[in-house]
Amino acid sequence: MGGRNSTESAEDAGRVDPYGGKRKLALDVVELHKAYGEKRVHRGVSFRVYEGEILGLFGGSGSGKSVVLRSLIGLERPDEGQILFEGKDLTQLTERELMPYRTRISYVFQNGALFDSLTVEENLSYPLEEHTALSPGQIHKKVQEMLVTIDMPGSNDLLPAELSGGMQKRAGLARAIILEPKVILFDEPTAGLDPINTKRLLENIKKLKKTGITGVFVTHDIPSAFEIADRIAILHEGRIKVCDTVDNIKESKDPLVRSFISEAIIHHH
Ligand SMILES: Nc1ncnc2c1ncn2[C@@H]1O[C@H](COP(=O)(O)OP(=O)(O)O)[C@@H](O)[C@H]1O
Ligand SMILES: [Mg+2]
Repeated sequence: MGGRNSTESAEDAGRVDPYGGKRKLALDVVELHKAYGEKRVHRGVSFRVYEGEILGLFGGSGSGKSVVLRSLIGLERPDEGQILFEGKDLTQLTERELMPYRTRISYVFQNGALFDSLTVEENLSYPLEEHTALSPGQIHKKVQEMLVTIDMPGSNDLLPAELSGGMQKRAGLARAIILEPKVILFDEPTAGLDPINTKRLLENIKKLKKTGITGVFVTHDIPSAFEIADRIAILHEGRIKVCDTVDNIKESKDPLVRSFISEAIIHHH
């Protein structure tokens, strides 16, 4: 990609290519603006996600992280800006045109967002029934495989309310990945999980990463982000103020970066 170099500057932290042209761009988010009434949440949010990487997205509570993720799958429409994916600007697509993209960009909601009245098997079958031509037998087989992947074999007939928090999160992850999306958006996937379940979820995400998925990982859980992400972006006052490799973020003297990771240092000692 190129052609917009004239608009780039050192301030556009999200726009520097850390891979020196060696990786293809998966998502190019350009100058998003979004206001709710008087409240200007995004004031020019720009960042890029490269194929096969996980970008950790940090930001204070209410800074607009979830709105970024929702915008990436068209659940939210920016007032201005572009989201380029596979050569299309997703912000310009109609609901109908967005449909196929919802199988290639998948959202893991904060609470798992399982359907309460459906069993685990029904929850996982649902996207396959909606978006594929697989037979019921093939769907069942795929669900069985997925339950093994997320360490929940045999939980087919349980309802979400019968699952632990950790299991709900993993089932939510399973539902989001069962269509084998190219990009996965994680919204605070480890929030509310104990260390053991956090570890399990991270192991699941690492397995996915080995298969080549691309991810955006929104979190307050800095140690988990450091473990799973390749780069970290910080959303602050409506813009991506910092975007750098995990190693550089750990070493950074930038006060904004320090204020975000000081909590992580406490956890590590
Ligand atoms: N649908 C909406 N209507 C009005 N305000 C919203 C809406 N969605 C988000 N906001 C506001 O936008 C800001 C950012 O929200 P959000 O992206 O959820 O923050 P976070 O970084 O904690 O995920 C918050 O102040 C929130 O109140
Ligand atoms: Mg949020």
